[in-house]
Order: sequence, then C-alpha cells, then structure tokens
Amino acid sequence: MSLLSAQQGQGAPKQRGEGQQEHQIAVRWLARLAWFTLAYNVLVILWGAYVRISGSGAGCGDHWPLCDGHVVPPSFTVQRVIEFSHRATSGLSGLFAIGLVGASFWATPKGHPVRLGAALTLGLIVLEGLVGGMQVLLGLTANSTDPARGLVQGVHLANTFLLLAAMLLTALWAGGAPKLRWPVAKSDHAWLRWAVPLITGAMLLLGMAGAVTALGDKLFMPAPGTPLDTLRRDFGHNGVTGLIQQLRVVHPLLAVVVCALLLWFVDKVKHSIAPVSPTFLRAGYWLYAVIALQIGAGLLNVALKAPGWLQLVHLALASVMWLLVVLLMYLPLTEHSSLPVHEATQEAPA
Ligand code: HEM
Repeated sequence: MSLLSAQQGQGAPKQRGEGQQEHQIAVRWLARLAWFTLAYNVLVILWGAYVRISGSGAGCGDHWPLCDGHVVPPSFTVQRVIEFSHRATSGLSGLFAIGLVGASFWATPKGHPVRLGAALTLGLIVLEGLVGGMQVLLGLTANSTDPARGLVQGVHLANTFLLLAAMLLTALWAGGAPKLRWPVAKSDHAWLRWAVPLITGAMLLLGMAGAVTALGDKLFMPAPGTPLDTLRRDFGHNGVTGLIQQLRVVHPLLAVVVCALLLWFVDKVKHSIAPVSPTFLRAGYWLYAVIALQIGAGLLNVALKAPGWLQLVHLALASVMWLLVVLLMYLPLTEHSSLPVHEATQEAPA
C-alpha cells in the first residue's frame, strides 16, 4: 500500500495534515536518492572505462558473476582489484535501483511516472550487468580483437546511455516534474514525433561508434606520425587490419553530423514552441558549451593518440552531453502539459 493511499479514509484533518507532511518528506528523500543514484552511476561508468583503459577486463578470469570462482577472491592483483571493484560498485548501483523502486512504489500513488522511471532504471541495470557478464563469459576482454567485442562494447555503451536517461527522468519525476506526453498529438508539434526518436537513435549510434573507436585505440595503437598515417595503416592492404581498427574513423565523422542535428533541434524548438521555458534555454546554452568542449577533447584525443586521462574526460563529457540532450527532448514533450510541476506529485491515489 502506498503512503498516500494509506492516508485515505482517515477522517481527522490533523492526521491528514501529518500524513501529507510525511508524504512530502518521503518524496523529498526519493528525489535525493534518485539524484544521488544518477551521480554515483556516472562515476561507476567512468570506472568501467578505466577497467578497459588499464586492460583489467579479464582481472576475474572468464568467470561471471563470481570473480575467478569466488564471491570475494582470496588474492588480488592490481587488475583484479580494478575489475572486482567495478563489479562491486556496479552491484551497489543495483541495490540503489532496488531502493528507488521500493521507495517510489511506497511513496507515490499508482500511475505516478516516477514508478515507471525507477522500474526502467532497475531493468536497465540488470541488462547492463548481463551485457558485461556476456562479454566476460565470451572472452571478449583483455587483448581480444574479435569484431564481436566491438559490437558488445557498443551495445554496453547504448545501454549505459539509456540507463542514464532513465535515472534522469526518475530524478525529475521524483522532484515533481510532469509526465511525458507521448505520442505527441498530430496538431501539436507533430515534428517531435520523428525528431525525438531520430535524435535518440543518432546519439546512441554516436556513443556506440565512440566505444568502438576507444576499443580500436586500445587494441591498435595509433601509428607513429600524424592521424593520416594511422588512417593509411588502418586501411592498408597488408591484410592484417580488422574491422574494429577500420571502424574507428566513423565516430569523429558521425560526431559532426550529430552535433549539427542537435543544434538544429534546439533552434527549431526555440522558434516553433513559444514561449520556450527558461530551463530549456539554459540547458540549450549548456549544450552548446559542452559540444564545443567535446569536439575540442575529441580533436585532442586524435592529436595525443588517446591517453587514458583524456579518454575519461571525453567519456565524462559524453555523459553530460547525453543528459542535456535527454532534458532538451523531455522539456518540449511536457511544455504544453496541463499538469503544473507541483501537481504531478500530489495526484489523488488511484
Ligand atoms: C561531440 C560529440 C561526441 C560524443 C558524444 C562522443 C562520445 C564518445 C564516446 C561515448 C566515446 C567512448 C568512450 C569510452 O568508451 O571510453 C568516444 C570515444 C572517442 N571519441 Fe568521441 N565523441 C564526440 C566527438 C568526438 C570528436 C569530434 C572526435 C574527434 C575529432 C572524437 C574522437 C574520439 C576518440 C579518438 C575516441 C576514443 C578514445 C576515447 O575513448 O576517448 N569524438 N567518444
């Protein structure tokens, strides 16, 4: 029984007032937990990238979910510490997600969007663990140059992005933001019907291509000399280059197209949905800044041949950029909602 529905039928106004206060405190804590889970997961994602950068993916052997056959391995090498701590910290994300589901079902009434957000978060965390586990069990770690590794790494990244989106929506909804209106009514900015899926798909594809590029840089060091020398070597006809190596050039090219698409989207919303909210305008300016930084970091990556620290900076910027894009897509899908922000958390229980 949800906290709100527990109050129904209790007559005394004082009791009802106390119940209302209790409900507000519970929802406030739910929002805090949701924002904390989001921030914590960005750190887990960066640590996951460090597992790859440090070549520690096989630190627990080809065992999963056990580490080298143990819940807690009896001895530790540096690589095992890195891989095991990634498993432990991502396991903790799972516990936070379970907490979110429990708290949202307890503190909000049936049909409240935060319940959906929390359930999606948990589902995507489970999927994230399964994809990571599959990678280990199939031996697509350490020095494996199997093209399937590129695909699994890409799927892992796409799932990570979806997970971040679910966490952001959960946090917004826990804070009282309105439900999504989807599908958009035909009369009401119907272009959003195709623009939102297109941008979501384009960002996921860009991230997946980035993951393949990162893998390519890890497995096949860029050639000495200029990036052109690397390209010549990647596409040389000596028969030794593989798909992962050849695909690394796709990501920077795709980045230019996707960034242009994002700029168009922000501009189109500004001009076609008036008046656009100050939050949208602010998020839009942040997106411009992050795009500029990210393109700079990408170019520096190519110039410096992707040192580990810069890979982490690039991934952190990609996560922030994706979260801003999700926010910028969410806002126009709610701007015409009849639900003001504060009403969304106080719907009558079903
Ligand atoms: C502006 C939008 C961009 C986004 C959202 C983006 C996103 C990403 C992501 C998610 C990765 C994988 C990181 C990982 O798994 O550790 C990556 C890798 C990479 N990206 Fe980008 N990127 C962008 C632009 C660029 C540009 C313009 C360039 C080059 C001119 C570039 C060059 C690279 C390189 C060399 C890697 C592999 C090294 C690394 O992981 O940092 N990126 N990118």
